[in-house]
Amino acid sequence: MVVPRLIERKRDGAALGGDEWRALISHYAAGRVPDYQMAALCMAVVFRGLEPAELVALTDAMRDSGASLPRGTGTLPRIDKHSTGGVGDTTSLILAPLLAACGVAVPMMSGRGLGHTGGTLDKLESIPGFRTALTLEEAARQLDAIGVVMLGQTEEIAPADRRLYALRDVTGTVESIPLIAASIMSKKLAESLDGLVLDVKVGSGAFLPGIDRARQLARTMVALGARAGCPTVAVLTAMDRPLAAAAGNALEVREAIAALRGERDDALMSVTLALGVEMLRLAGIATDDATARARLRAAIASGAALERFAEMVRWQGGDPAVIDQPDRLPTAPVVLPVPAGRAGVLPPLPPRALGAVVTLLGGGRRLHTDTIDPAVGLVTCAPSGARVEAADPVFLVHARDAADAEAAVAALGEVLQAVWEDGGTLLPLVLDRITTADLPSTGALT
Ligand code: URA
Ligand code: CA
Repeated sequence: MVVPRLIERKRDGAALGGDEWRALISHYAAGRVPDYQMAALCMAVVFRGLEPAELVALTDAMRDSGASLPRGTGTLPRIDKHSTGGVGDTTSLILAPLLAACGVAVPMMSGRGLGHTGGTLDKLESIPGFRTALTLEEAARQLDAIGVVMLGQTEEIAPADRRLYALRDVTGTVESIPLIAASIMSKKLAESLDGLVLDVKVGSGAFLPGIDRARQLARTMVALGARAGCPTVAVLTAMDRPLAAAAGNALEVREAIAALRGERDDALMSVTLALGVEMLRLAGIATDDATARARLRAAIASGAALERFAEMVRWQGGDPAVIDQPDRLPTAPVVLPVPAGRAGVLPPLPPRALGAVVTLLGGGRRLHTDTIDPAVGLVTCAPSGARVEAADPVFLVHARDAADAEAAVAALGEVLQAVWEDGGTLLPLVLDRITTADLPSTGALT
């Protein structure tokens, strides 16, 4: 394998063979192909794309660069959910215990926040003592015992993707549908799943804001899942405003606990239930939407979902007392309101700008190496679309000190001014659902 010839062929629009992709990835993972050659190849893929056979070979090679989550002794259907990420996207924290309470085994392998988006691992780690760095053996054991585990992508899972994603992040090569699809699916397929639900976000706060590209990414991933024998359904959901009222790590854990108590009936809950319905259907536990929805609501009403959350916290070393006493979670010392400034119907609040304020407060990362403050963030008291008076608070800022709080209040005041001027209407929360039935008969791998 002469790597410069492969780069030239891709640059000129030809396809590489499956064996060539497999060799490239295994040599790259072993450190025998340097980053500069891989970066050049990724840039060629950004412009030229991948043919279906190339995409399959790349995905399989990245999955096979590491270990898989063992199947263990459990017989429950194993289903996971993956989101392309957003602000106030607290669905994972609710869905994992909720689906476990309905008889699904949920191995949720998640990431950390970066840029404007939050990360499930950071949120969980705001629970005192909670460990997310589990080995695959530990995760499989916990999954067999209580049907739910939430962990970080271990060193063992798709190491080639970990290295490649870090490289793409700094070489302008993230925005390629085949590279994104291969990256996401290689990790998910290593979980040895019976089914996968993808939450592909659409709107200004999404990774790919436009619906056409989001739909194309969804189709590509659904096709990759089907081809690997993992039934996959994608739901296109709105990220044109933050999903939950809270944005910030401990604040989102509080929100998830309230939702598991049945105290929420908002945008977060609507999207959570839409995704949960798909998970239950893939698990074969419900065959139609209404039955699935009733089952999810019953698991919340009975307290079973909240109890499963407590069990998971206990298993992973966290303090389950936070569930009855949320004040044991990290709490910010300074809380300041931000008034609407005008009376009217509040237009969509821009997730990127709000995510940036969370980062400004210390609740997010600019660099992978930044540490975060779990206590800080925002709570939206008036959601997008609500009618407000000028003096009504739209946000509560939770800050470490007065200076941070005032900076955030000023930044949010500017965001609100722009929002009132720009207006805009909200996207429907669920925009589309994509299954293999939506794929063209020729396949939809690119
Ligand atoms: N998330 C991933 O895991 N990989 C990508 O390439 C993009 C988003
Ligand atoms: Ca559809």
